[in-house]
Amino acid sequence: MRIITIAQQKGGVGKTTSTVNIAAGLALKGLRVLAVDADPQGSMTLALGTDPNEVEVTIGDAMLSGLPVPTQATQVPGLDLCPASRLLADTEFLLVPKTGRERFMARALEDVRGEYDWVLIDAPPSLGLITINSMVASQYLFVPVTPALLSAAGLRDLLQTVEEVRQGGLNPKLLLGGIFVTFADSRTVAARRTESELREDLGDLIMENTIGRRIAHEYAAQAGLPAIIADPTSMAATEYRNLVEEVLQRANK
Ligand SMILES: Nc1ncnc2c1ncn2[C@@H]1O[C@H](COP(=O)(O)OP(=O)(O)O)[C@@H](O)[C@H]1O
Ligand SMILES: [Mg+2]
Repeated sequence: MRIITIAQQKGGVGKTTSTVNIAAGLALKGLRVLAVDADPQGSMTLALGTDPNEVEVTIGDAMLSGLPVPTQATQVPGLDLCPASRLLADTEFLLVPKTGRERFMARALEDVRGEYDWVLIDAPPSLGLITINSMVASQYLFVPVTPALLSAAGLRDLLQTVEEVRQGGLNPKLLLGGIFVTFADSRTVAARRTESELREDLGDLIMENTIGRRIAHEYAAQAGLPAIIADPTSMAATEYRNLVEEVLQRANK
């Protein structure tokens, strides 16, 4: 079972959209996939067709109470969802005084080992305890960045957190699988320049495939399905199918 986290402390960079499309792309290949919504906003839960207001049990309950990881089927064959709701916001707070508070997600996910080939965690927009728990549970981290955040400085806090998780011994095996550009806009010279500058700075960490700004993602989210499923012939779907291939290559060491 391979566990990967999609994280970035900024909101609105395409974490959730990327998680659902990559998860669905892997499921389309016949892999058994679990998408874990680790954001109390429940955007991924909504993007996969469930109203977060109706969710009563989240990954937080599995973490804190030792209950089984709550999973449910989605409209995408092979893809299950562990949903989130506002209730998950309490988890972060309740974890604070606990010993080994960074390891609760890793322990909870042991419960589904053997049931899934891939687990993808959609992290909340912060570098708080839930994100740290996600990183500790994972073998790989993938990071979406928008052209506006495309600078080594913009990524400094995140890269530093990864180093702390690795070197502090919380998860020495965590690898930064790749950084990919979302809301890419190749039409402007400035956008192209920042992207090539970043490739110089961060080298192979920057993935080859980029995700463009595509309206199909908005429609798909409203329909409660990833674009890769809702609109398979769109550019939006093609870009994510290509990204899935690169994720498979990069997360296969
Ligand atoms: N490549 C894209 N093109 C156009 N809209 C997008 C794209 N990726 C995400 N969106 C939209 O932008 C908003 C924020 O994306 P989301 O994936 O929720 O980001 P995050 O999880 O990082 O907060 C959502 O409304 C989503 O539908
Ligand atoms: Mg999100």
